[in-house]
Amino acid sequence: MALLTTPTSELHLECYPKVDAKIQQPWDAADIYLIESANYGEFPAVVNDQWGALSCFLAQQNSPTYSWTDSFCSQMGINKNSQNPLNTNVSIDLILDQGSPTFPSCTDSIWIQCPKSFDQLHWWLSTALQQLGPGIKVSLAGMAKHIPVKWLKWLEQHNNDYQQHPIKKKARLMTFTLGEKLPPLTVLKSYLGPDNKEVSALPGVFSRDHMDIGSRFFIQQISQLNSLSGNIIDLGCGNGLLSLACLHYFPEQNIKLTLCDDSSLAIESAEMNLIARGYSQAEFHHTDALLKVNTCADTILCNPPFHSGNRISTAAAERMFKQAARLLAKDGQLLVIANRHLPYAPLLKKGFKHIKQLNCDAKFVIYQCTDALPPKR
Ligand SMILES: C[S@@+](CC[C@H](N)C(=O)[O-])C[C@H]1O[C@@H](n2cnc3c(N)ncnc32)[C@H](O)[C@@H]1O
Repeated sequence: MALLTTPTSELHLECYPKVDAKIQQPWDAADIYLIESANYGEFPAVVNDQWGALSCFLAQQNSPTYSWTDSFCSQMGINKNSQNPLNTNVSIDLILDQGSPTFPSCTDSIWIQCPKSFDQLHWWLSTALQQLGPGIKVSLAGMAKHIPVKWLKWLEQHNNDYQQHPIKKKARLMTFTLGEKLPPLTVLKSYLGPDNKEVSALPGVFSRDHMDIGSRFFIQQISQLNSLSGNIIDLGCGNGLLSLACLHYFPEQNIKLTLCDDSSLAIESAEMNLIARGYSQAEFHHTDALLKVNTCADTILCNPPFHSGNRISTAAAERMFKQAARLLAKDGQLLVIANRHLPYAPLLKKGFKHIKQLNCDAKFVIYQCTDALPPKR
């Protein structure tokens, strides 16, 4: 637990899942920049808060606060931190939202933690403009090295009263009021999947406009398996591409799919893609790894994430492997594609007795893990 102290508030905050505050603090310099310098009006909205520093701060100023995030882990963080009894006076009027943002009609200011892709920012601003009209005050902050100059130029060109504040502790703050009109945005982007049909995804979903090279290599491997049937879990499903590959290469098999992802928009996109192929028996879980999933799996497919925000991290992959070992049937297999530069093999060895390398190329290794070991107490 870490203590965030500002002139008007004191907040006890924790990351979700818990991480020692010495390794990762549950806020960054961009959060502090917003908290110390940005206007929040009477009815603020927060977009993309990672663990609740922004939402809890605003809710503590007695402002009814709307907070939108796509991530299950962030929602858990915001929820847990806002309900921590040590955090006094956090207003109960904290509305958490996911999926397509629906800003309350009274929203008069928006705080945004900079996203990873420009599409997300464009989508949030277009949605706010459509729902609230022009003139809303927006404050956007992020770590300077992650905000390309062309984003700044675009913001200045299409909005009013644009101000770029001095960089503080490597964070940038931009303030502006929403302009009259923003350039059009392609909300659903797609590419051709293994079945030659469109695979579509919403803004922010992993590799939504082209097939990731790792996913492509993994799909080739899936197509060469002798058979694939029974309960299949697509762990970290993104747009559902790996599930679509299973249905395409093993059409005659009795396949029951379960798809899981931390991103609500990934789940929505994957569902859309499966329905478009007439497959309606899938189960979907917006969750962290396999939390609260109880399917006994014959095969688990995993192309694991290796970022937490903008930093490289294998923590989510480790949780995925551990939980996969818990859910596999006796003769089940976990298939994992690993970037060569990431130390996945030792993590997999903790959960499985047998790890076989099925294939590799210059960038990736594909592992088949069987005989899950009992969890260590
Ligand atoms: C490398 S992408 C793979 C996407 C897709 N399976 C593919 O191969 O194209 C990793 C996916 O894991 C999801 N993810 C990240 N952290 C997660 C977590 N803690 N629990 C579940 N999914 C997570 C991301 O949202 C992303 O969709």
